[in-house]
Amino acid sequence: MSKTNAVLQTIQQRRSLMQPSFLDKEVSREDIELLLEAADAAPTHKRTQPWRFVVFKGAGLERLGTELGRIYKEVTPAEKYSEQAEQNMAKKATTSQVAIAIVVNYTGELPEWEELAATACAVQNLWLAGHSLGIGGYWASPGLINHMANFLKLEDNQKCIGLFYLGYADTNHDREPARSPIAEKVRWEE
Ligand SMILES: Cc1cc2nc3c(=O)[nH]c(=O)nc-3n(C[C@H](O)[C@H](O)[C@H](O)COP(=O)(O)O)c2cc1C
Repeated sequence: MSKTNAVLQTIQQRRSLMQPSFLDKEVSREDIELLLEAADAAPTHKRTQPWRFVVFKGAGLERLGTELGRIYKEVTPAEKYSEQAEQNMAKKATTSQVAIAIVVNYTGELPEWEELAATACAVQNLWLAGHSLGIGGYWASPGLINHMANFLKLEDNQKCIGLFYLGYADTNHDREPARSPIAEKVRWEE
């Protein structure tokens, strides 16, 4: 790439980083608020600002882990259930520094896809802001998120579309983006 700057580098270097990469270093409430402010700067048709977040930290992560394990046990057919998988599901929360439930608030003012798309823009902002601060993470979308409405106290017009797990991490890794060339996804008409 011939031209570059801090924004372009952040976009190119952001990766999904999982729990084993998280450092034993607290992510402060101020840090999290910076990420949420970045998310809130996302574009939004008719300014509906459809993103909602539930932040789990400290004892909140223990409660989230317990709930994920409980849901896993409830929805998994007996022949597929394993205690190890239940514990692993809970550990996703308890081995993260922070987990943020990503929720779309459908207003009915726009086609649902627009509010879903705007919420995904907000998540990308949060992800990039995190990377710029040395905070790594990833968007997890296990089927269990479809069973979290009560736990998350969602309203009827709201839907959880993922859990963003994060923590301070060594973001200076050299993992390549693993993408096919952009040229394969573009048709030019000149
Ligand atoms: C909507 C969405 C859902 C995702 N769900 C998961 C998931 O459930 N588990 C997971 O390990 N990664 C999940 N990811 C992360 C992708 O696997 C990851 O972005 C992809 O492998 C590319 O890697 P990179 O983010 O490091 O560029 C999700 C990403 C998006 C955008």
